[in-house]
Amino acid sequence: MEKLLIKGGKPLHGKVKVSGAKNAVLPIIIAALLAKTPSTFDDVPLLEDVRAISEVLKCLGVKVDDSVSHTLVVDSSNITDCEPPYELVSAMRASFLVLGPLLARKGKARISMPGGCAIGARPIDIHLKAFEALGVKIEQGHGYIVATAPNGIKGATVYFDFPSVGATEHVMMLASLAEGKTVLENVAQEPEIVDLANYLNKMGAKVRGAGTPVIKIEGVSELHGAEYTIIPDRIEAGTYMIAAAMTGGDVLIENVLPEHQKPLTAKLREAGAVVEEDVDRIHVVGSGKLKAVDIKTLPYPGFPTDMQAQMMAMLVVAEGNSKVTETVFENRFMHVNELIRMGAKITTEGRSASIEGPAQLTGCFVRCTDLRAGAAMILAGLVAEGQTEIGDLHHIDRGYENIVEKLTGLGADIERIENENV
Ligand code: UD1
Repeated sequence: MEKLLIKGGKPLHGKVKVSGAKNAVLPIIIAALLAKTPSTFDDVPLLEDVRAISEVLKCLGVKVDDSVSHTLVVDSSNITDCEPPYELVSAMRASFLVLGPLLARKGKARISMPGGCAIGARPIDIHLKAFEALGVKIEQGHGYIVATAPNGIKGATVYFDFPSVGATEHVMMLASLAEGKTVLENVAQEPEIVDLANYLNKMGAKVRGAGTPVIKIEGVSELHGAEYTIIPDRIEAGTYMIAAAMTGGDVLIENVLPEHQKPLTAKLREAGAVVEEDVDRIHVVGSGKLKAVDIKTLPYPGFPTDMQAQMMAMLVVAEGNSKVTETVFENRFMHVNELIRMGAKITTEGRSASIEGPAQLTGCFVRCTDLRAGAAMILAGLVAEGQTEIGDLHHIDRGYENIVEKLTGLGADIERIENENV
């Protein structure tokens, strides 16, 4: 087991380059299953989740070539299996999205139920309801889902009870190879949805309206591989924006789309940080004294739930009382107890957390309880007095490429070491 050691108190300075988006690349790699010819992806982040999804595809007979750094070639010309192994699917929820493409290509797919996860129950009812509307027969039992389409996959109009990101992506993929037209209403509008739609269209699909609440898809009979470059990771970029603001630093963040950062940019400015936007760069200067702000997580273009933990770490050291409300996931406050151990003054009630700031954080041993909570621990460590030790780093490895190197490049005192005691 390894741990991070951070000596806090150093303002960050310099430039950092954001990697390709984890949440865009995962569904896009899965969508390559829909094509009978290979796809080549560029700006693929080097992450544990990408390696895991590659393993899932390889088990289905797909050839995945990652010999060139940050490039992935996915060849699904010969799918030999339509049942991904339980161990791999249960380890990463996004792998559930292979169900639709496998069904579209092979006429049948069997997958284990994705199960719960630390941040909430995360059901799949919206996925399955939409699949059934498109003519898919779903059988559930013994922990598995079997999907067949005895009469073919047929376009339909589907209203989503909630704009689920995964369900929107999943149904977009399936509908691309359905017979006739599909209209999806009240869907997710996240930038990753637009990225997937752009890739599908490059493959020969006819998807219109991605990025709005209504997506229209004209089904086609076949899709081909395509070359595609993944968008920058808005959550990774946002994490460095907060790091700059809360350490009182001065950081130029490169390979970022300012449009995608709007909800965070607005809150950082409200808190007193200086944020300047360029075409594909953002410059953040921390004023040294940040003010309390309230945030409420919502589907895009609202404040992202994936930035909630990192924002909370910042608000802990901001002047005044802040309120953080989490509306997307029911149990996404696991970082609170870890922050309290470092000296934060936070009380929670249901889905709201009240933060009394500023607190002087003090370094101690904390754990990453999930991916973004782990990022929050690093941010807290950057401003804490003394040394912070962070364990359970596998969560961080899922979604932050070279975070130690990138922060070191900005002047942080951070290192990753072997830890026999964790
Ligand atoms: C994706 C992101 C994740 C992010 C989340 C919300 C990926 C790989 N992951 O996850 O980082 O935090 O969007 O922005 O892109 N729900 C249902 N029924 C369903 C599906 C979802 O009730 O069938 C609920 C979930 O329990 C949750 C909410 O909808 O409370 C949002 O989930 P969803 O948008 O589907 O998130 P994911 O796609 O799993």
